[in-house]
Amino acid sequence: MEKTKIAVLVSGGGTNLQALIDAQTNGILQNGEIALVLSGNRNAYALERAAKAGIDTEIVVKKECADQAEFEQKMIAALEMYNIDLIVLAGFMNILSADFTGRYSERIINVHPSLIPSFCGKGFYGLRVHEAALSYGVKVTGATVHFVNEIPDGGRIIAQKAVAIQKGDTPEILQKRVMEEAEWILLPQAVEEVSAAIRKGETV
Ligand code: GAR
Repeated sequence: MEKTKIAVLVSGGGTNLQALIDAQTNGILQNGEIALVLSGNRNAYALERAAKAGIDTEIVVKKECADQAEFEQKMIAALEMYNIDLIVLAGFMNILSADFTGRYSERIINVHPSLIPSFCGKGFYGLRVHEAALSYGVKVTGATVHFVNEIPDGGRIIAQKAVAIQKGDTPEILQKRVMEEAEWILLPQAVEEVSAAIRKGETV
């Protein structure tokens, strides 16, 4: 059977996309192939990473659509054009409706930069997550890869990895450590695991 066709949805720098591209090159990602990078932001650096790797790109900007329904309709059209089996949210900064997540049940995964259920849900994204962890004063944080359902950051957990907070951490320093020690390792492994399961027709 063909490899699982993956779409990576991005909005920004795309370092997690890069980790997936590298995983494809070094063989960590074997059962899936990145067929499409879909950006919610015209200026995302992730688009350059995709182009450099020879991966097709599409851009769908929420603000340029009449409403959420039109935004998602455009995304669905792109995903169907590429026969996508698995959607990976890698720093994608738009919330998806229950209609969208229900359509792709257990076929959307997200990476979140904390140990869910801490510092997650509406309003917790990017640097804000690390600011919240530092201001609470936790000693351990990390990253979570999970399935996406209608509850923001509420879907079934696939993998988690803890990262220690160190004296003198700023949100930026902590964000980098969580990416290096957790996100860039965990996400490719989870994408491979889910891709293999989809290919074999199994559930994770
Ligand atoms: C990553 O840290 C990712 O976990 C986070 O945004 C960053 C994107 O970086 N996602 C969220 O906060 C989602 N709630 P990247 O564009 O370099 O991969």
